[in-house]
Amino acid sequence: MLTVAVLISGAGSNLRALLEAASDPAFPARVIVVGADREASGLAHAEEFGIPSFVIPWAGAAQREAWGDELLAHLEVWKPDLVVLSGLMRLLPPAVVAAWAPRLINTHPAYLPEFPGAHGVRDALAAGVSQTGASVIVVDDGVDSGPILARERVSVLPGDDENTLHDRIKPVERRLLIDVVRRIAVGELDLAAASTI
Ligand code: GAR
Repeated sequence: MLTVAVLISGAGSNLRALLEAASDPAFPARVIVVGADREASGLAHAEEFGIPSFVIPWAGAAQREAWGDELLAHLEVWKPDLVVLSGLMRLLPPAVVAAWAPRLINTHPAYLPEFPGAHGVRDALAAGVSQTGASVIVVDDGVDSGPILARERVSVLPGDDENTLHDRIKPVERRLLIDVVRRIAVGELDLAAASTI
């Protein structure tokens, strides 16, 4: 059974989907802890599913290394097999990436390497593209630049705004995330061998 820590900043809808998938006894992974950089509303999903959680309040970029050291200490306690960034809106300090990559994956609401960064949906709309997408990647020291584990196209529709487009991307992201976690758990996906597709 693959044990997973999930890190969030927001509503945690992808977290919830993973918790629901993992509540099926046949699913080969379990979420053992949820962490956040603030009192994120998504922590309520962890509580509902009886999963422990922790908050390490973000205290600004100048404190990034100290924040990362605290995160490392928490992860050392829980010792998950995999860490999933699921809407954690922070660039992890290099020490965290060095300690956990490639067992560290991230979801992103765009078809990487297109539109990396904190505003993947907004940037795709601003570029006027007819298609964007969703991706799951291995985290490296760059901004959404690690090996791509899964990605899928999502059409941009006339009249889309950031919310409507993101709402159509998220179900795709959830499906990709759950499938990637499952494939890692059953040994179909070797993170150490992952390279950009
Ligand atoms: C998701 O779309 C996730 O991919 C995105 O934030 C959203 C979180 O939603 N992450 C990024 O943009 C990271 N660059 P959720 O909190 O409802 O799961």
